Amino acid sequence: MTSTSVRKQLQSLRREIEHHNYRYHVLDDPEISDADFDALFDRLLALEAEHPELVTPDSPSQRVGSTPSDAFAPVEHAEPMLSLDKCTTREELINWEARCRARLEVESPMTYACEPKMDGVAISITYQDGLLVQAATRGDGQTGELVTANVRTIGAVPLKLTGRRVPRIVEVRGEIYLPLAAFEAFNAAAAASGEKPMVNPRNGAAGSLRQLDPKVTAGRNLSFFGYGVGRFEGDWQPRTQTEVGDALAGWSVPVNPRRARIEGAEQCFDYAETLLVERAGLGYEIDGVVIKVDDRAQQQALGTVTRRPRWAIAFKFPAEEATTTLLGVEFQVGRTGAITPVARLAPVFVGGVTVSNATLHNMDEVRRLDLKIGDRVLIHRAGDVIPKVVKVVPGHRGEQEITLPSACPVCGAEIYHADGEVVARCSAGLDCPAQRKESLKHFASRLAMDIEGLGDKLIEQLIDGGQVESPADLYTLDAETLAALPRMGEKSAANVIAAIEKSKSTTLTRFIYALGVREVGEATAAALARHFGDLEELLAATEETLREVPDVGPVVAEHIHTFFAQTSNRVVIEALRKAGVHWPKVAKAAQAPLAGQTWVLTGTLESMSRAEAKAKLEALGAKVSGSVSAKTTQVVAGPGAGSKLASAEQLGVPVMDEAEFLVRLDALATE
Ligand code: IVH
Repeated sequence: MTSTSVRKQLQSLRREIEHHNYRYHVLDDPEISDADFDALFDRLLALEAEHPELVTPDSPSQRVGSTPSDAFAPVEHAEPMLSLDKCTTREELINWEARCRARLEVESPMTYACEPKMDGVAISITYQDGLLVQAATRGDGQTGELVTANVRTIGAVPLKLTGRRVPRIVEVRGEIYLPLAAFEAFNAAAAASGEKPMVNPRNGAAGSLRQLDPKVTAGRNLSFFGYGVGRFEGDWQPRTQTEVGDALAGWSVPVNPRRARIEGAEQCFDYAETLLVERAGLGYEIDGVVIKVDDRAQQQALGTVTRRPRWAIAFKFPAEEATTTLLGVEFQVGRTGAITPVARLAPVFVGGVTVSNATLHNMDEVRRLDLKIGDRVLIHRAGDVIPKVVKVVPGHRGEQEITLPSACPVCGAEIYHADGEVVARCSAGLDCPAQRKESLKHFASRLAMDIEGLGDKLIEQLIDGGQVESPADLYTLDAETLAALPRMGEKSAANVIAAIEKSKSTTLTRFIYALGVREVGEATAAALARHFGDLEELLAATEETLREVPDVGPVVAEHIHTFFAQTSNRVVIEALRKAGVHWPKVAKAAQAPLAGQTWVLTGTLESMSRAEAKAKLEALGAKVSGSVSAKTTQVVAGPGAGSKLASAEQLGVPVMDEAEFLVRLDALATE
């Protein structure tokens, strides 16, 4: 091969790899499989190994290099990296706009560029003639640290700017962040290997970026959004902040898909409120919204005071972290007997609500945190997620040890640890009132038998009063018994009896789910119903036949088999059927309802993670793909859906939103 043809081949390979890299990291919309990508990469590495003289700094092979000797050397910023003023209320935001307008002497509302305020690490990345030449942290705003080698490892950061009107020199500013999935994966692995977990994604991002070995950074799956420019030398100048974002996107720099151009401070407030609702489903942490005057001439006119531009403001969301004191630990007994330590906390405002309890999961977690009663602790609460104790605040330690009780705190029965399980369990099964209560709550819940009006409090009363022991006893209750309970009127008693009566007519899926077999959720219950068609066949199934069901692995098969082998469970099932609980026979599908279909998920879902949605679809027989083609059956698009949604529309593939998706899942689960 002549050196020109090798050069050409290398060039086209690199272009192809960067294209797929961009599809994967920036658009979240890969066109090829990971294996195909790896094959391309291996070809590049092989060819470069044969021709080391042809390796260029912008080659994707150079993302992970060796440790440079100048790592963390001080870097003077060409223009200072500024801080932001903050506000937290609508009124403060409107006052800020009033001050801007007064200074500029404009009467009408102004236009703003709004986008999420990423909770990560600020970064400045300089491109010369389109090539990444330097990356530096913010530092004190004047002087940062050189982290070029580490930033090059981040897939979302382009090594080379593409497209039109790339300036001779441009400093791209933005935020390096750790996606929540990467944060959780790191901490799960750390917990398994006994390593120190990350406290939060922001600390994780900062720590991952400040690694001496770029290979360590490369393994952390950091990501990046650009939000502005510093030094800019080219034949043209962007006139607005929106144009800056558009230009960045045009050069293949990832920009936040939720950025928006908005007129008037009140509308900016509405934008912030909407984003606050979507916050928990974004897949990364944000701490507010950044609102910038869009017109750059107006920005200039407004200027900067003490390192804070007058033309921008951070609208801050309630913090998701707070510190408080651990007052005590109580042990709760769950549906399957699992004994969970629960932290009792001095009430603290976090994530927009006052929190006084947090789960501690199990005793391993208590030991890992090295928790003692009286400790000052850091609490995290995001979205509707149960608050969590993240760590103990050093220097404010309590003294009282936390010990697992020697017997079940509710019924006094023995506690055991199943082989290999961290969780301690009460051994009394349904003889334990706590387990009976939790099983009954599950039995009556919306996705199970859906008995309206039979709430947690009422169930607790019924168990404590001995009127109900097993789910089958519900069907022998009468209105008089219920009406005699404290805080129950005749009318509500009659309503509950009617709801219990109504629940007799159910579906096999709901019935299986309602039984509360360990690890059998709605998706697995639906798969079992479809596979076996009726209860008798499920009752007769062996562990081997159970494993033939999609979604059922050896552990779940064992749980199901053990459950149905227990006489007490058989007795309850029999009693329920005798009481009149019935369901239509399920057409035993040789095929799952979505067999042969290909679904694509894009954007964020609020009610479940994408992984959960994928598992549910797969349990129904669908294939879930990462990219849209003419063969795609259905696209589910949540907020933030980008190019996949566009391709679907172009190809005429049907698109549904999350609400429709949930309705469809529900219909399929209860079929
Ligand atoms: S613009 C003058 N946009 O917030 C405007 N900053 O106090 C400069 N940040 O640490 C910042 N997301 O890294 C801007 N979408 C966003 C941002 C953002 C996060 C951080 C920034 C800096 C701090 C500014």
